Amino acid sequence: MKSLSSENRKFEPSAEFVKNAKISGLESYCAEYKKSIENPESYWANIASELHWFEPWTSVLDRTEAPFYKWFNGAKTNISYNCLDRHVEAGNGDKVALHWEGEPGDTKDITYGELLQSVGLFANVLKSLGVRKGDRVALYLPMIPELIVAVLACARIGAVHSVIFAGFSSDSIKDRILDCEARMVITSDYGYRRGKVLELKKIVDEGVKDCPSISEVLVIRRNGNDSVDCAMESGRDFWFEDCANACEDHCPAEPMDSEDLLFLLYTSGTTGKPKGIMHTTGGYQVFSYITSKYVFDLNDQDVYWCTADVGWITGHTYIIYGILQNGVTQLIYEGAPNHPTPARFWNLIDKYNVSIFYTAPTAIRAFMKWGDHWLEGNDLSSLRLLGSVGEPINPEAWMWYHEKVGAEKCPIVDTWWQTETGGHLLTPIPGAISTKPGSATVPFFGIEPLILNDEGEETDVGILAIKNPWPGMLRGIYGDSKRYLETYWNKWGGKYYFPGDGARRDEDGYFWILGRVDDVVNVSGHRIGTAELESIFVEHDSIAEAAVIGIAHEIKGQGLLAFVTVIEGKEINESLEKELIALVDQRIGKFARPEKIVFSSDLPKTRSGKIMRRLLRSIAEGQELGNTMTLADPSVVDEIQKQFKKG
Ligand code: PRX
Repeated sequence: MKSLSSENRKFEPSAEFVKNAKISGLESYCAEYKKSIENPESYWANIASELHWFEPWTSVLDRTEAPFYKWFNGAKTNISYNCLDRHVEAGNGDKVALHWEGEPGDTKDITYGELLQSVGLFANVLKSLGVRKGDRVALYLPMIPELIVAVLACARIGAVHSVIFAGFSSDSIKDRILDCEARMVITSDYGYRRGKVLELKKIVDEGVKDCPSISEVLVIRRNGNDSVDCAMESGRDFWFEDCANACEDHCPAEPMDSEDLLFLLYTSGTTGKPKGIMHTTGGYQVFSYITSKYVFDLNDQDVYWCTADVGWITGHTYIIYGILQNGVTQLIYEGAPNHPTPARFWNLIDKYNVSIFYTAPTAIRAFMKWGDHWLEGNDLSSLRLLGSVGEPINPEAWMWYHEKVGAEKCPIVDTWWQTETGGHLLTPIPGAISTKPGSATVPFFGIEPLILNDEGEETDVGILAIKNPWPGMLRGIYGDSKRYLETYWNKWGGKYYFPGDGARRDEDGYFWILGRVDDVVNVSGHRIGTAELESIFVEHDSIAEAAVIGIAHEIKGQGLLAFVTVIEGKEINESLEKELIALVDQRIGKFARPEKIVFSSDLPKTRSGKIMRRLLRSIAEGQELGNTMTLADPSVVDEIQKQFKKG
C-alpha cells in the first residue's frame, strides 16, 4: 500500500461541476468559512432560518454549562416536520422520497406525501400502545421503508429512538434496552441478508427475556415471498397491521424543545460497556440539514444513494434526517453489495439513475477485489458526485473509485466524522475544494480543527482536537455525564473536544486522518472496543487473560487479532476456538469476530503487570521487537511468535 505521507496528487473539480455547485470555488468557501468562525451565532442562526420552527430560540448557543452546550435554546421545532410536512406544504408531496429495493428485487416507490401519511399512521399506532414523549423505543429492523417510517414516527411524537443495527446479537439488544430502559421494541418477522432469511423477531424475543422495562414488542411484516412464523406473546406482542386498522394517518408533529432528546445511538468505547450517545433536536436538525446540502451539493433533480445501514450514525444523518430535510429523492437498498452478484450496486445505480453515491472504503476495496468486469454493461453516467465515510480511504481505493466509478469526472468527498459529531466535520466542499486521495481535506463551516500533542500544543502530526462547539455535537452519554467529561473533554483540561483520532496536516493545510489513538478498532467502518472483546473472552471458563489488537486488513481496513491465555489444566483445542467465536457472536454479533485467536501460556507484560500491546502489534506485523528484557518473562515472546505463525 502506498503510504499516506507520500501522496501528493491533487484533483480539481470540473468547471461544469463548479459552475452549478452550491458553493463554487475556493474563495467562496474561504469567505463562508471566515464568516462561520468569526461570528458563529449569526452564521448558525442564518442557516437555522431555512428550516421550520414552531417558536423561535432565545439564544443560539448557550455556553453556561459547558461542555454541556445548548443550541437554539427556547425554540420549539420538530425534525419530522422539517423532513416531511415542509415539503408537502410547499407542493412537493408527489415527489418520490424513497425508491426502495429489497434484496430479492421487490420494489416500492414512496412519495413525500405518502411518507407523511405512513409516519402519521405509525405515530398514531405508537400512541395507541401508550408510547409518550420522552419514552425510549428500541428499533431492530432490516433496511425496509418501515425502519425510516418508525424512526420519523418516534421523532414526530417525541419518543426517543434507539436503533440497534440488525447484525447485533440478542445480548447486545438486551444491554442497550437495559441501559436506557426502553419501553418498546419495534422489529419485523424477518429480513434478508445475502440471500438468507434473518428471523429478527426471534432474536428480539431472546433479547427482551430479562428486560423488565419492555411492555410492548411491535412487529412489522416484511411482506416478501418468504413467510416466517412468529411466536406472539399475548399482551406484549402486537402486529403493526392489526394496530394500524384502528388508527388514522394524520398525526400533528409534537412541538419539541430544541434540547429535547431526539435519539440515542450506542457506540463502542475504550471500556467494556457501549455508550449511549445522546443527540438532541434543534442543533442536530440544523447540522444534518446543512452538511447534507453543501457536502452532497444536493439539487432538486438528484437521486442520492447512501449504502450505509440506518443502524449506524451514517444512516441516521445521511439517509434519514439530513437528506429528507433537503427534500431530495433517494434510493434505499435492503441487502448485500454482492447479492446475487457483485454487480448489484452498479445495476442499482444504472436502474435508478443515481447521481450521488456515498459508500465506505471497505465496500470499495471489496469491489476492487471482485474485479472491474462487474462494472461492465452498467451505465454509470448519471453519477456526478461520490462520497466515502467511516474509515481512512487508502489512495489506491480512492483512485479506483475515481477512475472506474466516477469516470474521472465526479468529485469525491471523503467525509470524516463520528457518531458523536452528528455530521461531517472534515470534508471537501465539492465545488470548492480540490481533493487529494486519502485526505478528508478541510473543515466544514463553523468547525475549528487543530492537531495537538498530549500537552495541548499545536503540531503537524498528532491528535485531532476540535475547538468550539457545533450544533450537531453529542450532548452527553445517556445516564453517565462523568464518562462524557472523561472521554471527550478531559484530555486537554476541557478546552477541546477529543475525538480519539490521530491526524496530520500537510503544507496546504489539508487534514489526513491516521486512525484511532485509543483502544478502538475500526473494522469495516464499525467501531469495536478491544476492551469489550477482551471482557467477552475472559467470560469463558478456560480463559485467564485476553489482549485484543487491531491489525491491517486488506478489505476491512482493520481486523481484530486476539491473544488469549488458557487457565492451567484447561485444554487448547479446536473446539475451544469455536466456543470463543460463538461467544463473540452471542455477545456482540458476527461482525465483531477476530481474524485469528492466538493461544499461549502467558502474555508479554511489564514487571508491573501491564500487558504490552505494542509488542503484540509488532509480532503481528512481523517487525523487529527491540529490547524485550524489560518484560517480566521474556520467554513468552518466543512462544507467542511460534503460536502466531502456526495458526
Ligand atoms: O476513526 C474515525 C473513523 O470512524 C470513527 C467514527 O466511527 P463511527 O462513530 O462509527 O462513525 C462512522 C461514520 C461516521 C472516527 O473516529 N472515520 C470516520 N470517517 C472517516 C474516518 N477515518 C478516516 N477518514 C474518514 N473519512
